[in-house]
Amino acid sequence: MSARVTTQRLALDLCPPRDSSFWPAYVAIRADPSWQQQVWHATYPPESPRRVYERNSTLVDRRGHGIWAVSKRHSDATVVNHSGGDDRATEWVGWIGYRNLDDASPQSAKWPPPPGTLEVYIGFSREHWGNGYGTEALKGLVDDAFSKHLVKGRLTACILEDNPASERCFEAAGFLRTSEDLRYEDEGGYWVLGREEWEKRKDP
Ligand SMILES: CC(C)(COP(=O)(O)OP(=O)(O)OC[C@H]1O[C@@H](n2cnc3c(N)ncnc32)[C@H](O)[C@@H]1OP(=O)(O)O)[C@@H](O)C(=O)NCCC(=O)NCCS
Repeated sequence: MSARVTTQRLALDLCPPRDSSFWPAYVAIRADPSWQQQVWHATYPPESPRRVYERNSTLVDRRGHGIWAVSKRHSDATVVNHSGGDDRATEWVGWIGYRNLDDASPQSAKWPPPPGTLEVYIGFSREHWGNGYGTEALKGLVDDAFSKHLVKGRLTACILEDNPASERCFEAAGFLRTSEDLRYEDEGGYWVLGREEWEKRKDP
């Protein structure tokens, strides 16, 4: 996968360095219980920025993808320094990433999902909601993946019924709601995006 994806207003950087200010920002965004409810209807355990970085870095080594940190592109100077420079002035919007479900821990009796299932997930800080950033980042990431033939097969998402903002984002990026049971979550609806649907969205 591409280490850096840019859109009109955003920069997406795959797994910033360990000392990046992104990792504490990620943990802070996810620590809000009402934010968590929108994603999962449950509470996330407290996380350490260091552990989150290590988990993602391992995934990137193994799979070539993980979390991309999403920041505003105020200027060309506002970029994540992959050599580990000071990025405290960067305005983090949130993250977007892929999860290969072969790597995930079994969560229910319905496990496992179809092999090679690649899930897309996204989470933005509340202060940045409603500006079209979610849709822009999602389109940017999937356009990069399909246009460069970096993804085989299809992408999936699982969205809770009471999360219309997420549904709208995925729909705008070309994902279609499916009645197929992909088996990897206990609640929520599944959405899928294959090359054919992506091409239709790009060239309607
Ligand atoms: C999902 C999320 C990333 C969307 O980010 P965002 O930047 O606010 O999204 P956008 O501004 O691109 O808006 C997407 C669409 O949702 C619509 N929308 C936003 N809030 C809405 C609401 N409460 N009800 C209905 N529609 C809503 C917007 O109008 C827009 O639709 P449009 O393009 O037809 O105008 C953000 O809400 C978030 O981080 N939520 C918590 C994490 C989460 O739920 N992740 C997804 C898990 S599957």
